[in-house]
Parts: sequence; structure tokens; C-alpha cells
Amino acid sequence: MRKPMIAGNWKMNMMIGDLEGYMRAFLSGIEKVSAVDQVDICFSTPFLQLAEAQKILTKTPILVAAQNVHFENAGAFTGEISLPMLTEVGVKTVIVGHSERRQYFSETDETVALKTAAAIKNGFLPIVCVGETQEERESDKTKEVIENQVKTVFNSVQDITKTVIAYEPVWAIGTGLTASNEQAQEVHGFIRALIAEKYGRQAAEAVRILYGGSAKPANIGQLLDQPDIDGGLVGGASLKPESFLEMVQIAAKKVAQA
Ligand code: PGA
Repeated sequence: MRKPMIAGNWKMNMMIGDLEGYMRAFLSGIEKVSAVDQVDICFSTPFLQLAEAQKILTKTPILVAAQNVHFENAGAFTGEISLPMLTEVGVKTVIVGHSERRQYFSETDETVALKTAAAIKNGFLPIVCVGETQEERESDKTKEVIENQVKTVFNSVQDITKTVIAYEPVWAIGTGLTASNEQAQEVHGFIRALIAEKYGRQAAEAVRILYGGSAKPANIGQLLDQPDIDGGLVGGASLKPESFLEMVQIAAKKVAQA
């Protein structure tokens, strides 16, 4: 069994001043969860909150992730943040290619590939997001879209086990609509098969593929029961420490029972 990962994506929510209270509640809850060390927990906060989050979590194995990064290490890129800057505040995990970045900030498969490669080169764990829009799903293009997205990344990555992939159907993000277990499993299995084709079975078995899109305490258990779903990238339900904690708890229980 791959080690599950439950990653919270706070998007453009939460203030620096909210961190302490949130983490106090979360950490005191987490202490009581058995097998919690068998789950990777990650918080992806806005840039300005990263240093403070990292400081609060420094003595814990909990990962702090950026929500985006530039692929160049320095230069004339007004408004951007580099991998060395993240490293300086202790952050070594980054979400790359989130659909909101693709949709509203013109990220392309090519920039996502560049960012993924740069992240690995700088010793980061990139969480690489892929996913189809509603229109693409309805016109039966889901697999084609996913294949293009992942293959562009594959072209720039030698060792895919240094990444985490997140399948996030765009139509399920923040809409309350979750992909059914079967729909999610089908795409997760497809992504794993593409990884196997390019990197071999062993690598494919090692890579974690997270599901994202209205994941919450009520559905994460069933999603995690699918053979190719290894965790969740959680937006809305990560904003409250209780619901995020519950999701971590469910994942830990699955590991303990396995
Ligand atoms: P959601 O967001 O859980 O609010 O749907 C998930 C994501 O965008 O990562």
C-alpha cells in the first residue's frame, strides 16, 4: 500500500493571524489519532503564510507547500516567487498546474512541465495537477486531455517517483459535485497505466495519485478504497481544522486496517 497523503489547499483563504488558532486545534486533534505517522499531511497556504506555517509546524513531519512557483531560480519576473525563495523559508513541496492556475492565469501543459522539472531539480516534491473540464468530459475527451497533460510532464521528468500526481476534475472543484468513486478510479487507473508505459510497473506502483474536487469527510473513505486513489487534495474541507482532521483520521484508519 502506498502511503496516503492528505493535502489541504487553502487557495486564497486564511490570514497569517488565523494560522495559530487553526494549527493549535489541528495539532491537538492529531495527537490522538493512531497510525497518523502512516499518513503524509500537507498544508498548501498562500505565499505570505508559508514562513509562519513552516515555523509552527517545524517540529512535526507535516509538509508545508506553496500553491505555485516560477520555473526560473531568479530574474526579471515581476510578481513571481522562486524555488530558492521557498527553500529559504523551509518549504520543499509545491502544487504545480492547479486548474485554477491553468484557467485564470494562463498556465499551459508546457509551463507545468517546466515547473515540475525545476521543482525536482531544486529538491522539491511537486504535486502535479491534471484534470478535464466539464465540456471535455461531456464530449468524451477526458482521457485524451489527461494523456496530453501527463505526457507533457513526462517529457521533462526522468524520475516520476519524485512527484505526486493529483487528478482534479475541474467540474468537481469547489462545486460540491464529486466524481463518483468509479469515475475517479477509472482516471486514476488510466494515469497509472500511462506511468507504467513510460517508466515501468515498479515506478507506476510507487507514485501516489491524489483525488481532488469536493473531497470531504463524507466521501474520502470510499475514494481511498479505490485501488489507485492514494489520498486527497482538499480545498474547501481543509479550511476548518475539524473537517480536515477527520479526513486525516479516516486515511490513518484505512492504513491501520490494511
Ligand atoms: P475543493 O478544491 O476541495 O474545494 O473542490 C480542491 C482543489 O481545488 O484542490
